[in-house]
Amino acid sequence: MKRLLALLGWLTLPGLLLAQDTTKRDMHEMHKLHQDSKAYVAMPDDPKRDEYQKPHEVITALKLKEGEVIADIGAGSGYFTFRLARHIGDTGRVYAVDVSPEMIVHLNRRIRDLKVKNVVSILAAPDDPLLANASVDRFFICDTWHHIENRDRYLGLMKKMLKPGGEVVMVDFKKAETPVGPPPEMRIDRADLVKEMEKNGFKVAAEHTFLPYQYFIVFKVS
Ligand SMILES: C[S@@+](CC[C@H](N)C(=O)[O-])C[C@H]1O[C@@H](n2cnc3c(N)ncnc32)[C@H](O)[C@@H]1O
Repeated sequence: MKRLLALLGWLTLPGLLLAQDTTKRDMHEMHKLHQDSKAYVAMPDDPKRDEYQKPHEVITALKLKEGEVIADIGAGSGYFTFRLARHIGDTGRVYAVDVSPEMIVHLNRRIRDLKVKNVVSILAAPDDPLLANASVDRFFICDTWHHIENRDRYLGLMKKMLKPGGEVVMVDFKKAETPVGPPPEMRIDRADLVKEMEKNGFKVAAEHTFLPYQYFIVFKVS
């Protein structure tokens, strides 16, 4: 218990944030802890995350439209889900997609408690977000891509699920020393991500560089 509390002390948000001098072994333990959904959902969204995550700037940069349909893949605690939902109006929809039943219960509780009408949770498969074809204007994927199994197949499914002109937004930790974020070996380098997306028929449509520790890239079907 003491050890768990010590580990939790390193966490500054439910998104696997680590102190810079954390040892490699601790980082793996942290990653395991993060994958323990019960421990994860027990933690509130830490306002300290906002300092580097800049959610307001991220949402503004997306230029969301009333009525659009967004799939938040790996929605987690809903850090971005509910912010996205506020900007798309009653006619829009955010699908909060996650593979963790505990996360989905947590999200459903938030949907009920916040009386949000335009968020729908989806308990997905690890290799399939289980959305209908041509139903999504924008996939939003923050700090989750490295968790996805069989990403080529997943991108093929996402391409079918996108409406014409749709976008895939990727926000993830740079493969560099940063004061927070998952262990470096679990991160996907920006250049590798772009290559992977290009190989699967996507191209960079825009890139925002105001986040200190993460890349923020918008892809469209090429
Ligand atoms: C690091 S959290 C990020 C949460 C959220 N996007 C955020 O920025 O706060 C990663 C989330 O992805 C979920 N996840 C892992 N593998 C997944 C998959 N194959 N499909 C969908 N969600 C997945 C985990 O359950 C977890 O909630």
